[in-house]
Amino acid sequence: MKSEKILVLFVLLPIVTVETGVFDFFSGIFDNDKLRPFNSTDFEKDLRMSLYGQNIALNTILKAVTWLMKDPDPPKPLVLSLHGPTGVGKTYITKIIARNIYEMGENSKHVHTLIATYHFAHIIEFPKHEAQLKAWIYGNVSSFPRSIFIFDEMDKMNPHLIETIKPFLDYMLHVDRVSFNHAIFLFLSQAGANMINEVALDSWRKGKERDQMNTQRMETLLYQGIFNDKNSGFWHSSLIDEHLVDHFVPFLPLERKHLKQCVLAEMTSLNITHDYDVMDSVLKDMPFFPPEEEAFSLKGCKTLHNKLGLHMKL
Ligand SMILES: Nc1ncnc2c1ncn2[C@@H]1O[C@H](COP(=O)(O)OP(=O)(O)O)[C@@H](O)[C@H]1O
Ligand SMILES: [Mg+2]
Repeated sequence: MKSEKILVLFVLLPIVTVETGVFDFFSGIFDNDKLRPFNSTDFEKDLRMSLYGQNIALNTILKAVTWLMKDPDPPKPLVLSLHGPTGVGKTYITKIIARNIYEMGENSKHVHTLIATYHFAHIIEFPKHEAQLKAWIYGNVSSFPRSIFIFDEMDKMNPHLIETIKPFLDYMLHVDRVSFNHAIFLFLSQAGANMINEVALDSWRKGKERDQMNTQRMETLLYQGIFNDKNSGFWHSSLIDEHLVDHFVPFLPLERKHLKQCVLAEMTSLNITHDYDVMDSVLKDMPFFPPEEEAFSLKGCKTLHNKLGLHMKL
């Protein structure tokens, strides 16, 4: 009996080794890249603790992701389009989502990121890219249905390639018995950032709390703003026409108080005692807009980490 098992192993091992590679065979046995048991309370706590000044985005993403994770048989994948100026938490929130879904968080092999200008820089190779993109999505979802796909700089993506993604986002039962409905697609872009900045500034001038901004109105404005943006091929595509995006999520420009939170969080993660003088000097080094009011940070919380290096007493 025992020797039969050994024999089977010896017969199978070379096949498995050739088919999947030795590494895949053993990583399959010792796989720690698993789903975490999803807990919406922990997810909400993590979002509220980690993400500053983005309550509209926070609430939409909390509900949308929780809704998908709790649905045993969702009718379509979750498709979120995140919009806003630079450095305000769009990429950051994708990491928060990932660490609440996978044991290995953003490092999980089930989180797939594609940067339009980096991966598909050569438009000329379009047909090749189209086939690659299809195989990439299909292959990843068939091996792990609850995969996350992040498309960064989505507004710069070739419209033809966007057409390629479309069938994966739609209501459908299965493609070759593979269900895509547990997957999450996150599109990140700065499209609509000017409109978001204007609305945020208007609200700031009226002395309104940013949390009180009307979420529904903001999403409608954003949707119209990007739909009518003639500079961006993507937004005219059927992705919008056919309502494949579940939510357009606005990220607002960050105020001084949020930057302070970012600096303090950075100090904590570097194991440095909070130094408020250093925090003030870092903030003085950051550009704000509009020039006369200096309401919002021009770069969000981006570059704060390196600025901190300049202002720390070494
Ligand atoms: N709203 C925010 N709350 C907390 N930290 C933030 C926020 N926005 C940005 N950060 C910090 O700044 C870094 C850069 O932000 P990122 O999410 O990459 O910007 P972008 O919106 O351009 O994708 C993040 O890794 C995070 O540390
Ligand atoms: Mg980003």
